[in-house]
Amino acid sequence: MFKPNLFKNKTIVTTGGGSGLGKAMAEELLGLGANLVLIGRTSKRLEKTAHELGSEENILTLPLDVRDAEGVKKGMGKAMERFGKIDGLINNAAGNFLCPTENLSINGFNAIVNTVLNGTFYCTLSVGKHMIQTGGGVILNILANYAETGASYVIPSAVAKAGVLNLTRSLAVEWGKFNIRLNAIAPGPTPTEGAWKALMPDPTIEEMTLSGIPLKRFGQPKEMALLACYLLSDAAAYITGNCVLIDGGQSLSDNPFNRLAVQHPDLLKAFLKEK
Ligand code: COA
Repeated sequence: MFKPNLFKNKTIVTTGGGSGLGKAMAEELLGLGANLVLIGRTSKRLEKTAHELGSEENILTLPLDVRDAEGVKKGMGKAMERFGKIDGLINNAAGNFLCPTENLSINGFNAIVNTVLNGTFYCTLSVGKHMIQTGGGVILNILANYAETGASYVIPSAVAKAGVLNLTRSLAVEWGKFNIRLNAIAPGPTPTEGAWKALMPDPTIEEMTLSGIPLKRFGQPKEMALLACYLLSDAAAYITGNCVLIDGGQSLSDNPFNRLAVQHPDLLKAFLKEK
């Protein structure tokens, strides 16, 4: 898809880089020659990922929680020391769980919002100040396809992702003059261990979700990673303030006629035949 060494001499920070989508994006970027800074809460998991990716000299692992603003600032300082410059940031660290909102505790709400919204802000601010000094860069925020519409049972995630979408658009304008681009990717359900454990506790929910996707399959982490590479690259140099949906058409299928087409194609055929 991309030229070899597309990201040579570029350093990209990925939060939540030890597993799931973060790891998939890291793998793709590394294959294209990037230096990587992987941020995650557990050093053991980060080390394992760095080892699996097999290029430890191009990878710095930073065990920290993005909810800790001071820790983020120190960590980004270490990344700048190690590689000299940060060219890209992927705000991917997230948390989510299904919970009827009336049962949600304040700590539960804060755990997710502090990770997704505040964590994204802390990382963006630290790296953004650096990018302002160094002449620019690219920031990519990983959302969900419900960031715009909202979603039941995942309220903390939905409101936090909506906030990050707004942050993406607002800062794209404010920091355009510094040559900093901000974009977002809004995936539909993507089978990673973390997401499936949190969001697909039962095969019935998985089947129901799948039946509502026009392309009749879930997205793959590699597909998200390729989109991330494009948006981080100079091929997207004039794209800023955008949110790209990557959900197989899921978020468009939810009106009665679209649902008929996607979930019950035989119903209309049978009805028209009768007439
Ligand atoms: N349902 C309801 N409340 C939950 C919950 C669930 N499934 N999981 C956690 N909480 C609540 C806890 O009860 C606690 O609130 P309380 O003190 O009122 O009881 C609060 O959230 C914090 O829980 P804790 O386990 O201390 O949070 P943490 O900060 O260590 O963990 C989470 C963060 C909640 C995101 C954790 O589930 C996690 O790390 N998940 C892995 C990442 C992930 O979610 N991936 C999916 C991405 S799609």
